[in-house]
Amino acid sequence: RYCNFVSRIFRVMKGKSLKDYFGKARKEKWALAQFNVSCAEQLQGVVEAGAETKSPLLIGTSEGDANFFTPSLAVDLVAFWRKETGLPIFLNFDHGKSFEVLERAAKAGYDALHFDGSKLPLEENINIAKRIVVLARKHRISVVEGEFSEVPGGHSDLHDEVAPVLTGQDYTDPQEALDFVKKSGVDSLAIMVGTLHGIFKTTQPLNIQRLQEISERGIEFLVLHGGSGTPGQELRAAIQKGVVKINVSTDLRVAFTNTLKETLRENPAEIAPYNLLPKSVAAVKQVALTWIAVVGSASKI
Ligand code: G3H
Ligand code: ZN
Repeated sequence: RYCNFVSRIFRVMKGKSLKDYFGKARKEKWALAQFNVSCAEQLQGVVEAGAETKSPLLIGTSEGDANFFTPSLAVDLVAFWRKETGLPIFLNFDHGKSFEVLERAAKAGYDALHFDGSKLPLEENINIAKRIVVLARKHRISVVEGEFSEVPGGHSDLHDEVAPVLTGQDYTDPQEALDFVKKSGVDSLAIMVGTLHGIFKTTQPLNIQRLQEISERGIEFLVLHGGSGTPGQELRAAIQKGVVKINVSTDLRVAFTNTLKETLRENPAEIAPYNLLPKSVAAVKQVALTWIAVVGSASKI
């Protein structure tokens, strides 16, 4: 596929890989927000925010997002915006649950792969993650993210209940984290230190002490999932401790969809998508601008 080929050429010609940006972020104590999108208009809103702030961008698709797009279209759309803006824009397959799903993404031209083996027995998780690292190198993919401690909440949504109360064993164990990274060979690790997938009626402080203990084990690139609904100052504290990537999905879904509902309410007779969707694009852009300010990635290209 032409755009797949262009994506690979981009990776070679452009020089800085996603892993290079992780290294820069770690050193300079900022992070990349991973903006999960499932339609071209959400992607456009994020890209407009990146262009306005000269921020490198990391786009994510969950399995649901990718199935709606198809992985190839997601790659093509990102390649289009990369060419259109000149921004470094990377595409990560988020929460891939099997080797086959991530192999399809690698073949389509994704720049990064997240294998979420958190529901598998640890040995099986490690073995599949090792195979995905080999697959990634074959496709010149610089970042494989691993995960063994599940981030509660399950999925990106507005959860109409109070947040689950977390206790000690819910948090990622520092030594288990180091063992997992060493045995699997993953480049980055999704950890559980208190963020939750989705937005709940209540929040609770991140376990920064545990994050510090994990970071002190020398794991280079740490990732937080469940960014939406987490106070900015908590996230900035986590970035100071070595987090280089923070995933965001619910905030962008809420911005896009609630704005569309409002537009439909205000314009009941309107049927043209080109009239109904611009406000949703603008709302997603505003959320992305807020996130770029929180993680500090402006002017970092
Ligand atoms: O993988 C995606 C993120 O973890 C999304 O979490 O919907 O709470 O922002 P969020
Ligand atoms: Zn996640």
